[in-house]
Amino acid sequence: MSEETPNRPAFVPLHDHGVISRYRAYLPVTEATPVISLNEGSTPLIHSPRLSEKAGAEVFIKYEGLNPTCSFKDRGMTVAISKAVEAGAHTAICASTGNTSAAAAAYAARAGIQCAVILPAGKIASGKLVQAFLYGAKVIAINDNFDTALQLVRDLGDISGIEIVNSINPHRIEGQKTAAFEIVEELGDAPDLHILPVGNAGNITAYWKGYREFHAAGRSQTLPRMHGFQAAGSAPIFHQRIITDPNTIATAIRIGNPASWEGASEALNTSAGRIDIVTDEEILEAQSWLARHEGIFVEPASAASVAGLFKLGRPEARRIVLTVTGHGLKDPDTALTSGTYRPLDVEANVDAIRRVLGS
Ligand code: F0G
Repeated sequence: MSEETPNRPAFVPLHDHGVISRYRAYLPVTEATPVISLNEGSTPLIHSPRLSEKAGAEVFIKYEGLNPTCSFKDRGMTVAISKAVEAGAHTAICASTGNTSAAAAAYAARAGIQCAVILPAGKIASGKLVQAFLYGAKVIAINDNFDTALQLVRDLGDISGIEIVNSINPHRIEGQKTAAFEIVEELGDAPDLHILPVGNAGNITAYWKGYREFHAAGRSQTLPRMHGFQAAGSAPIFHQRIITDPNTIATAIRIGNPASWEGASEALNTSAGRIDIVTDEEILEAQSWLARHEGIFVEPASAASVAGLFKLGRPEARRIVLTVTGHGLKDPDTALTSGTYRPLDVEANVDAIRRVLGS
């Protein structure tokens, strides 16, 4: 009998299109690194006509909610987990406000290693929590905030075989910088202004690293000004002091002592950028505005970018990119309770429905 089954095509392995495969030359991987990927990255850069009109510039949205676990964290996690497996780790551990834990759990599952996530009890959006459970992580809730969870993780990270996959792990930053590469490739250059939400400050650090590397490699002519926005109740970098009791409806960025504070400061200083704040009200308003006007549903932390642009008004820039970091379905509860959303009770007949439609 032949090895080939008749009438069935030979198995062809799917090509991996993840960020390691796309940007291998710029990442700390070798032939010996096992690539743990879910085909993350290559997210859409969506032109936004209505934001462009408001801002007096061409505005593009980098929609990171379309990654495999629905946030930008997958870019860094593919590199961090691949390197952890290469180093022989049996457990990945992280502190998280939700998205890092979802990504860590998924990539650890893919790698076949254990994942433990330490979370602030009661402060994780339901979509993120359900992800950590379903991907099979050990979910540990502490009666404290993210900053304390991260300290605990730092203490556990010295144990042999346990790999920290928070952004204090440099492999995370390496992976996340690829979002800047994609933007430069798509626009043919860097934008004039890049706006993004800031929590633990890994992402602003990573983007700036990515922009600078592509610039140094001659892939872009210019560098953007980096403009970060923190939630008003959780704005340590803006206030230049640790916030011991951070608070915001945007739980993803409810952080009072960012690990990459220095990286963020460098990005802000060397790019002639700025850090600013937006209130919870402005965040929720921007979230619903973006959904209604552009058909893009993002979680509250991500809407800080949009609220930030509204606050800036018509900034000096020809092209602006806004990173929206996570999908709106991560946190359906906040969205549902933030408005007066309820279905219209209508009788089951065409006339009644026509009355509602006004036609
Ligand atoms: N947006 C979302 C949706 C996030 O989940 C985070 C961080 C940020 C923005 C801020 O990015 O920390 O690099 O400045 N979430 C982390 C977590 C802290 O645990 O999921 P950052």
